Amino acid sequence: MPKLTVEGVGECEVAAGKRLVLALEEDAKIDQLHACGGNARCTTCRVEFVAGEPDKMTVAEKSVLAARGLSGVRLSCQIACDHDMTVRAISRFAGSGRKDAGSPPAQDIQPPPEWVPKA
Ligand code: FES
Repeated sequence: MPKLTVEGVGECEVAAGKRLVLALEEDAKIDQLHACGGNARCTTCRVEFVAGEPDKMTVAEKSVLAARGLSGVRLSCQIACDHDMTVRAISRFAGSGRKDAGSPPAQDIQPPPEWVPKA
């Protein structure tokens, strides 16, 4: 099983292929934001990678990051835990002023992923 390490929080094992946004919430037990419900629209599921950043991304992730002018972050709703990763959880419910963390993301990456190199 892949190992997920959240800097300053701890490490846990995650079912292979699980969505990172769900692993952060259910396995690492952090209050990860996912305002759009894991659909590559809001970018609040963003994390910074310390190690193990995937070298591929979904077309949906690539286009929303480009549209928002974001770099140096990845969208946890668009990443599958298929290897060991270390991340910084930089977008959490605590202190966000939001009414909740967002609706629950589906089990599978949405929209259905089309993979391209990270570049
Ligand atoms: S972009 Fe909204 S939860 Fe990932």
